[in-house]
Amino acid sequence: MGKPFDLTPRDVAPVHTRLRRIQPPFPHPEAVALIRRLYAAEPVSMQGQPPVVWDRAEGFQVHDPWGNTWLDWSSGVLVANAGHSHPAIKAAIHAQADRDLLHNYCFPSQERLELVELLRSIAPEGLDKVFLLTTGSETTECALKLSRAHGMQVGGRRKSVVVSFGNAFHGRTLGAQLIGGIPALKEWILHLDPGIVQVPFPDGYRVTDTSFDSFLYGLSALGVGPEDVAGVIVETYQGVGPDFLPVEYAQRLRNWCAEQQVVLTFDEVQAGFGRCGRRWGFELYGVVPDLICCGKGISSSLPLGAVIGREVVMDLFPAGSMTSTHTGNPVCCAAAVANIKALEGGLIDNARRMGEVLAPRIRAIGEAHPERIGVAKSVGLVGGLQCVHPGTTDPDPDTAHAVIERCLEQGLLFFGAVGVGGACVKICPPLCITREGIEEGCDVLAATVAEVTA
Ligand SMILES: Cc1ncc(COP(=O)(O)O)c(C=O)c1O
Repeated sequence: MGKPFDLTPRDVAPVHTRLRRIQPPFPHPEAVALIRRLYAAEPVSMQGQPPVVWDRAEGFQVHDPWGNTWLDWSSGVLVANAGHSHPAIKAAIHAQADRDLLHNYCFPSQERLELVELLRSIAPEGLDKVFLLTTGSETTECALKLSRAHGMQVGGRRKSVVVSFGNAFHGRTLGAQLIGGIPALKEWILHLDPGIVQVPFPDGYRVTDTSFDSFLYGLSALGVGPEDVAGVIVETYQGVGPDFLPVEYAQRLRNWCAEQQVVLTFDEVQAGFGRCGRRWGFELYGVVPDLICCGKGISSSLPLGAVIGREVVMDLFPAGSMTSTHTGNPVCCAAAVANIKALEGGLIDNARRMGEVLAPRIRAIGEAHPERIGVAKSVGLVGGLQCVHPGTTDPDPDTAHAVIERCLEQGLLFFGAVGVGGACVKICPPLCITREGIEEGCDVLAATVAEVTA
């Protein structure tokens, strides 16, 4: 776990702008009392976030009950793409609850139909089937299962290897962790699946060979040939950076998978629904995967996941054998439909425009502190500052933590540091953010990085 945040109420400088309001002491003593009660009742694993008690959240602001307001650069955890409490999403949830249908398992419903048809209409051509789930981890588990089942169907038991990438994150359930590429998260599993392997992710920073040949070398070093591979799963960008694939790499990977009858999955749980300033993050590469894993921003609110894919892969399991209790919950479906319409109705365009304001400002923060910020970049409305020990590429989690904690005291909200060594300050405001929200956040962040690294 990352370093805990300081729960001592302290006399921080008051902040009062149109977008932010912080009144000392911070954290408020009543917030600390509430948090300590949570600590008593929940596992330690739940203690990683800043001591902000969320009372209300609207648009790109989060309010606590004691009059403090944060400019939100977390979107929760890249969920509230349409903005918090979007009026159309709220109305859809209310209307659905008022219709007296809160659950219907896998029985057919109008709400599920509307959502799967909408998702199909916004997916690239050829990705015609949609399977609704609840969490992102469920979708990556499902992609693992479908890829392997497809491989074994076309190539026998031998064609069962699923390839993922170093440093990958696909969720915290067993299969999702097996395809993850962070060894520390897998220690508890003990008996790893020999049919799941990782190759280096070509981030261009810690892994300098970014050619597609490195993928092929990586496989042959593991003793894996194309005839063994059932699937490749890759995050559209690795959340830990964010780190993107080189375009040529992505295109050659796409072609290689097609030639070798390998199912290519893009995990769009973070990258989808406008986060990269495009509907789908993989549009950046000019490729279309066979399966798309969706979560987070699909509803901007209630829990929902989806796998969208080619019929030949999606239809591998017979009726009743690939389902889930909360598949297509009608309230979640109603929220997702309203959300997608809001995103498609202008918020994705806003993300692209605001992304153009954000990118040079984030780059400038990196350029001002080259010894301490190893990578500083953003695409659309996802970015990150990777803090390093002076003059090295070694992660510096203390600096990342200090930046987040100081920003918090000034009304700029991030979630706890993520990524390699827990050293990345992740930047991901809701897609409804304004130019003022971007500029003001960048001013606070730039001054804070200067202060913390001085
Ligand atoms: C790329 C990616 N895939 C999968 C997941 C897992 O999603 P969930 O936490 O909803 O299970 C996450 C969550 O952070 C993610 O970032």
